[in-house]
Amino acid sequence: MAMPDGWSETLAAPAIAAPMFLASNAALTLACCEGGVIGTCPALNFRDNAGFEQYLLEVEARLAALRRDGKRCAPHGVNLSLRKGNPRLNEDLRSTIAHQTPLVITSLGLSREIVERVHAYGGLLFHDVVNLKFAEKAATAGADGLIAVAAGAGGHGGALNPFAFVAELRGWFGGTIVLAGGITNGRQIAAARLMGADMVSIGTRFLATAESGVPDAYKSMVCASRAQDIIYSPHLTGVHANFLRPSLAEWGLDANNLATAAIDCATRTVRQGDRSGKVWRDVWSAGQGVGAIQDLPTAADLCARLAREYAEAQTGAR
Ligand SMILES: Cc1cc2nc3c(=O)[nH]c(=O)nc-3n(C[C@H](O)[C@H](O)[C@H](O)COP(=O)(O)O)c2cc1C
Repeated sequence: MAMPDGWSETLAAPAIAAPMFLASNAALTLACCEGGVIGTCPALNFRDNAGFEQYLLEVEARLAALRRDGKRCAPHGVNLSLRKGNPRLNEDLRSTIAHQTPLVITSLGLSREIVERVHAYGGLLFHDVVNLKFAEKAATAGADGLIAVAAGAGGHGGALNPFAFVAELRGWFGGTIVLAGGITNGRQIAAARLMGADMVSIGTRFLATAESGVPDAYKSMVCASRAQDIIYSPHLTGVHANFLRPSLAEWGLDANNLATAAIDCATRTVRQGDRSGKVWRDVWSAGQGVGAIQDLPTAADLCARLAREYAEAQTGAR
């Protein structure tokens, strides 16, 4: 079991507020870090590298001021997409290195070179994996942590059972194991640690917060949906991901016939009559945890609740 050195003293619960395209922003990151949960954001949530730089400056300045005032804050992290077609990768990686961002979360093809560049300034790199083959590759490249994105996770979720996934990773990986997928409360954080994970990563629960950057209608849909409303399909982006059935329906998309629907996977565009929309922005993703989400707290209140539930679960209180 391994949580990075120095982290546990800053965390109210061993949790990461997962990076979410279009949803994560400075307000959410800062509220999480202040609440003792690692706040993160994808670099691609900003129009250009200058916007990402601005974000890093804002987050660093605020966290430094809070720490000067004696406040215990969790570290923050950024998410870099290593997808081949990402034209921003080089400049966003340069910014990440220049700002010595404590945690870098990557997805897709990880190289040893990227890990070494993050290690060179003292940063840690956690890599998202949806199966054991990708986990082995990321471990070979030197990732400090593996985020096991299990079945039912929001975004590009995996298909593995979380018990099986964590147990197998625990058998050979000595770094930090982070479990993601369907986690919405502190009892589940405690359960994840009992089953062998060091930490958890929570996305969908943070979508439905005051600070999250998605439209109110999206937040309301998360609150109104149940696990059975989550559709796992490769037909929207070319890679399996989880989407809200009512959001598909709003674009005239039949969840049972997505293979033949008017979707351009390459550009992630959906069409209905003469209107077109973008997957993620207009067709909304969430994980199976939606069924346990009915409210829209501030991120500060949510972090406090997660911490309280986690502490109660450890003492056996209900
Ligand atoms: C709306 C949405 C957008 C996401 N965008 C990203 C992203 O840009 N990069 C990434 O690595 N993961 C992304 N994820 C996945 C999360 O980082 C995380 O793995 C997942 O949300 C965990 O499962 P949960 O939603 O069931 O808590 C996204 C998830 C959601 C729900």
